[in-house]
Amino acid sequence: MARQAGRPKGAFLCEATFSWPSDVQQCRAAADRAKNCVFLRRAEQTCELRNVAPAEGGRPKNHIIFLILNIAYIMSKKEQNHKLRSASGRPYTNHENSKSAGRRGPLLLEDYILHEKLAHFNRERIPERVVHAKGSGAFGTFTVTQDVSKYSRAKFLNQIGKETKVFLRFSTVGGEKGSADSERDPRGFAVKFYTEDGNFDMVGNNTPVFFIKDPKKFPDFIHTQKRDPKTNLKSPTMMWDFWSLNPESLHQVLILFSDRGTPYGYRHMNGYGSHTFSMVNADNERVWVKFHFKTLQGIKNMTGAEADQMRAKDMDFSQRDLVEAIESGNFPKWRFMIQTMTDEQAQALPFNPFDLSKVWSHKDFPLQEVGILELNQIPRNYFATVEQSAFAPAHIVDGIGYSPDKMLQGRLLSYPDAHRYRLGANYEQIPVNRCPFAVKNYQRDGLMRVDGNGEEGPNYYPNSFDDIYEDASYTEPAEEIKDPVADFFDRNEGPGENDHFSQPAALFNEVMNDYDRHNLVANIVGAMQGIAGPKRETIINRQLCHFFRVDPKLGAAVAQGLEVDVEAVMASLKHE
Ligand code: HEM
Repeated sequence: MARQAGRPKGAFLCEATFSWPSDVQQCRAAADRAKNCVFLRRAEQTCELRNVAPAEGGRPKNHIIFLILNIAYIMSKKEQNHKLRSASGRPYTNHENSKSAGRRGPLLLEDYILHEKLAHFNRERIPERVVHAKGSGAFGTFTVTQDVSKYSRAKFLNQIGKETKVFLRFSTVGGEKGSADSERDPRGFAVKFYTEDGNFDMVGNNTPVFFIKDPKKFPDFIHTQKRDPKTNLKSPTMMWDFWSLNPESLHQVLILFSDRGTPYGYRHMNGYGSHTFSMVNADNERVWVKFHFKTLQGIKNMTGAEADQMRAKDMDFSQRDLVEAIESGNFPKWRFMIQTMTDEQAQALPFNPFDLSKVWSHKDFPLQEVGILELNQIPRNYFATVEQSAFAPAHIVDGIGYSPDKMLQGRLLSYPDAHRYRLGANYEQIPVNRCPFAVKNYQRDGLMRVDGNGEEGPNYYPNSFDDIYEDASYTEPAEEIKDPVADFFDRNEGPGENDHFSQPAALFNEVMNDYDRHNLVANIVGAMQGIAGPKRETIINRQLCHFFRVDPKLGAAVAQGLEVDVEAVMASLKHE
């Protein structure tokens, strides 16, 4: 609200403090409400409202006095904190003209501020994320609604009603930082929970499975999603070549080419931890767990045609939709749920429960509610917060653990390594990444160390001077390694590892309806029509074979859409 400020009478009688720029409308409204005030300008987190009461009796003398007082006030403010300064704090005398030798002469090397300005500008870009480069983020709150202490002793889950601050970054995967939000692509769903036991990062997607199940294959897979080395164009040939050679991708391919591959912004999609994780309770008992975030806005997707139109109309639709919803007080929410599995159940399962290309049946392993996640604040600066945010599946907290999922194991190493390259060794000190509770360790120095660097304290452990200690109460239960043989095991061979078709078939026949199946086929056909070059037929036939193994109806519909004569192909194969 507008309020009286202790200022020279008649100069500035009212002032309001609102955050900027989101509340500019509120500033203006406050000015309208406060009699004789107009919105003047903003200072740091503050709107200044200027008093424009007519001078008493309308005498011009008073007007002049008020004007002088106002100018004096503005000058004194400028004096205090409105001076334009160099990065080292030197006030600028001339920000718009460079110093030259004579009016039309060359520029002088001593115009250091010109150098500083151009040099800093040249360094504004940092490497974009190698994947998930285009994204949007928001802060929010996670609130526990159910008691899950029988599964987890995590402190942020230990009381119904407990609130934990979160930061969530959504993203597309394959596109560059300036690419369109409506591309057919999985969407990233990365949540940072700022808990008292450290930050817990749940770095998931909007799909419960993934294209590959061994991390060694990730760079090859991602290369096929990026640009062709020669043409610099996206290449359906590379994509379908890779998918057809890796049948474990089939489950995720069916999800990607359904309308879930083009969600209507970020608010109307689910998030999944996708991997199998674990939870440990106060009695040191472990269960395997999968994380789900169910959108409370309802699932809403675009068809392939709608997504194409949206790409042309608004490249940044998802960003705009998120910002506009939150800024207008329409806070998006997700229900955080888990599926749990005991180790005995895991042993008895007909497939590998740590295989990222598989889901767990919701009938056998029902979803259980944990809490509600709400997003309610757009960061005040995109680069500082969203671009510099760094998530890592390695960042777990006591009560939550890893699993032998090979993809998860690969990701434990990959993300902190990526952050050290993209943001530097001290990336954990950037405010959005910093644990707001104490961080004490003996890591020292390094580029951009800005937190005091442990000050005068000892930089080795153990020592006789400080009182920092390890806490054995955080120890996880030991894990039994069931197979003592180390080798390069074929990911797709052996019982429970080689069925890539049953779950996609259940998705196609039991989860999708006729409308979904129709759109799936249309989207696949549209994409596969782009396969080109001398291996076109080989790639198409190999992929068709996978679709037929999911369901003959799917194979036949795609073949028909691509005008492939299946009988003729089969006959030619018999002759070879
Ligand atoms: C072995 C497989 C994988 C590897 C090696 C890998 C690697 C990476 C790398 C290097 C980044 C960029 C990090 C950065 O610069 O900040 C990234 C981002 C990301 N990845 Fe993965 N990834 C893998 C699989 C997955 C899977 C299976 C999921 C989801 C279940 C996933 C979700 C994400 C998300 C959401 C981001 C963006 C995080 C953010 O918003 O900053 N990734 N990944």
